[in-house]
Amino acid sequence: MAEHHSTPPDVSRARNPRFQKAMDRASLAFTASVGFDWRLLPYDVKGSIAHATMLAQRGIISQAAAERIVEGLKTILRRYEAGELTPRLEWEDVHMNVEGHLFELIGPEAGMLHTARSRNDQVALDMHLYMKDQGQQLRQELEHLIAVLIRRAESDFGVVIPGYTHLQAAQPVLLSHHWLAYVAMLGRDHERLSQWLERVDCSPLGAGALAGTPYPTDPAATAEALGLSKLYENSLDAVSDRDFLLEFLAWASILMVHLSRLGEELVLWSSQEFGYVTMDDGYSTGSSMMPQKKNPDVAELVRGKSGRVFGHLLGLLTVMKGLPLAYHSDMQEDKEAVFDVVDTLHGVLPVAAGMLATLRVNGERIRTRVGRDFSAATDLADLLVARGVPFREAHHRVGQLVGQLEASGRGFDQVSDRELAELLAPLQREDLARLKPEALVAARTQSFATAPEQVQAALRRAKARWGLEG
Ligand code: ARG
Repeated sequence: MAEHHSTPPDVSRARNPRFQKAMDRASLAFTASVGFDWRLLPYDVKGSIAHATMLAQRGIISQAAAERIVEGLKTILRRYEAGELTPRLEWEDVHMNVEGHLFELIGPEAGMLHTARSRNDQVALDMHLYMKDQGQQLRQELEHLIAVLIRRAESDFGVVIPGYTHLQAAQPVLLSHHWLAYVAMLGRDHERLSQWLERVDCSPLGAGALAGTPYPTDPAATAEALGLSKLYENSLDAVSDRDFLLEFLAWASILMVHLSRLGEELVLWSSQEFGYVTMDDGYSTGSSMMPQKKNPDVAELVRGKSGRVFGHLLGLLTVMKGLPLAYHSDMQEDKEAVFDVVDTLHGVLPVAAGMLATLRVNGERIRTRVGRDFSAATDLADLLVARGVPFREAHHRVGQLVGQLEASGRGFDQVSDRELAELLAPLQREDLARLKPEALVAARTQSFATAPEQVQAALRRAKARWGLEG
């Protein structure tokens, strides 16, 4: 294909006679988006190929021109993928860069591409295509993380940990039950993402700047060619809707709430004070000063990255809240927010999965904690209730006993004969044997509770839902 270096590209501001002078450098640098929207190029090219093809089909441009345009666009994409194409600031954004490069490749016919199109419907389309792609990739990464949690629940089966409320040991639960709680949370994130993907699957192309165009275009045909299953209902909404980005950021924020809670838990559990888990060396760092330190950096940053994600949600909500219809340049602020969140999640999801898959659970250590933490107190009171003691009185008696045991550094296995007679009558010493953590866990048999057979059933359901049979 011959290249036309002789004429300056049509898209150059210098060639628009509306303006008497070139754009101020600082103002160009301030308004240009090519520094960050360059990643949209493959989607922009895809959209332009569909648009040019439709223009020719409808007789709006000639078949021959469309063919040269499409060839040129394919060359641009090849060069981009080979790293041979450089963004030019003076062309402002990725859309004008594509048109500019196309002009350099095929000459003035490049100027036909933008017939019956505005950058407003163009950028909206690019974002839909990009987000659909990213959403599908993120969904796979999320599925992998869910699978890792299910495998953990399987391999850690039988380990009893103290369950907490107020971060005080409350009642023992199976560690597998704990992992499956995260599987449930991430399962909702997965469901929300899938529902969102259905809404993103919608084409704004053809809305033009805001009102539609006077050309006999075929928006349904371009939507179909691009693999988008429906069209916007209203052209004003098509160019100014950023709900799909707000929803994505809100979705990501809730996901990050879940991962941040998990990260926080692992930071605690890997501390010397807890010692429930040991991070794999591959997921820990040392201290530059203190030679003994092994820090759970990955877990900390999984927690810490939530800040920027929440921040971007609030940022874009604020950008959008006062905008009259339809497009405004304010909306260009959507990109860095959304791209940063996409990149953040591509970082967080795989590394969280790796950290969890390689985590070592310190069963012995947990066993010493779960036996001595008074988390059997409710069940001890329940034993009294079974012998006719009113619950409130049982609650008081056990509370007093715990106070005494704690003050002298003892557990329920070291109750004195006198305490037994004074506080626990009519219970006998052998009744106390029923307070073993495993027995307490086994007694909680509701379908969603922590008894081993229920957790086994939950595990089977999770494996079936996430395709992990065998
Ligand atoms: N760079 C712009 C954006 O990201 C593209 C749309 C520009 N449209 C316009 N009328 N200035 O939103």
